[in-house]
Amino acid sequence: MTDKNKLAIHGGEPVRTEPLHTAYPGADVYGEEEKRAAIEVIENQSPYRYYGANVLGKVKSFENMFSEKFGNNHTLAVTSGTASLVVALKAAGIGPGDKVIVPACTFLATPGAVVVAGAVPVFADIDDSMNIDPDAIGKVVDKYTKAIIPVPILGNPCQMDRIMEESKKHNLIVIEDVAQSCGSKYKGKYSGTFGDINCFSLQINKIITTGEGGAVTTNDPKLYERAVRYHDQGMFREKEGFLSKDAPDDVFVGQNYRMSEITGAVALEQLKKLDSIIESMRKVKYSIKNQIKDINGLGFRTINDEAGDSGNSLILLLPDAEIAAEFRKALTAEGIPTGFLYNGEPIYMIPQMMKKKTVDRNNFPFDQFDEEIVYTRDMCPNSWNIMPRSANIGISPTYTEKDVDDIVKAIRKVAAHLLK
Ligand SMILES: Cc1ncc(COP(=O)(O)O)c(C=O)c1O
Repeated sequence: MTDKNKLAIHGGEPVRTEPLHTAYPGADVYGEEEKRAAIEVIENQSPYRYYGANVLGKVKSFENMFSEKFGNNHTLAVTSGTASLVVALKAAGIGPGDKVIVPACTFLATPGAVVVAGAVPVFADIDDSMNIDPDAIGKVVDKYTKAIIPVPILGNPCQMDRIMEESKKHNLIVIEDVAQSCGSKYKGKYSGTFGDINCFSLQINKIITTGEGGAVTTNDPKLYERAVRYHDQGMFREKEGFLSKDAPDDVFVGQNYRMSEITGAVALEQLKKLDSIIESMRKVKYSIKNQIKDINGLGFRTINDEAGDSGNSLILLLPDAEIAAEFRKALTAEGIPTGFLYNGEPIYMIPQMMKKKTVDRNNFPFDQFDEEIVYTRDMCPNSWNIMPRSANIGISPTYTEKDVDDIVKAIRKVAAHLLK
């Protein structure tokens, strides 16, 4: 006989014998629509956006629908969220000798793209929302700082009014990295519609997904043109065709970050499902949250605007790092997959970032300043206060009422043992 009250990590009976499936929101609702769309491209033998036997214009349709949905003038589909960041940074003219502010709590892609663009990241501390603290921005600005990348973490919108205010004060270009929070809103306005140029990801963990993919949005025609050129070998085919010698004087050499038609076709179908995915995740998340908020010793990150939370993650905050580690292990053993963000540490702790190791000679671009760029373990103390204490439960739009009950039951069971 196993003991129902004994924790599964101690040999007790788990709340779920069949563990809850890990949440991949967009992929969890893949169905006939995505299948038909991908097959249609294959049947037409036209997987390339610019030419082929019978180009269906799927990428273009996705871009148009994205602009319509978010109310921006221009959307450019690209191959990944990382690509969207590099394209946006280069479109904005960021390069060697520039610094770009990023939050200490974000995926490595955010500061990594800054380095790839030839600039260096400066880390700003987070507040209790786990997003960039608007009050931390002014503290890290110097004469080299050109831009800022706010990142709404796992559905939680950033305080974009305060961030825009600070950015204006310090003359910073704003590049929103909405990779984790597509469809979230701050005060009724979509994340990714505040910045000068904004970035989205369609990677599998994201709210809508094509496995890999991304998008850049802007209202500025000049930024859009530079983004298009950077993503397509310096060309703007819709304007001047292929390898034109009559391109304007300010053209430049670019890369290839073009989205394929198969990806575009699936992206279009996923975008149609965005609202319903968010509605389902929010229902699940807040149902769980409402049933566990009375638990002593259990906290939550501050949600900057609950009405705009896209609902893809429930982050619990425990009293200390040790209890949090035990809590995550115990919940996972009960059949509820529970993780934390980025090893529970500020992202600059990743060795290549902390040691400023790049692929280039002399650790370019860190050698581009008349001062040494110094990163220290404790430069973002509030990130150290919060990140190690977190436990993250990803939310799927397909979680059922029974799943919600199990998550609540498991959290209550583990809390009863660990939060006395
Ligand atoms: C905040 C953030 N920015 C950028 C990216 C990079 O996106 P991708 O994996 O599509 O390159 C990710 C996730 O992967 C992310 O979480």
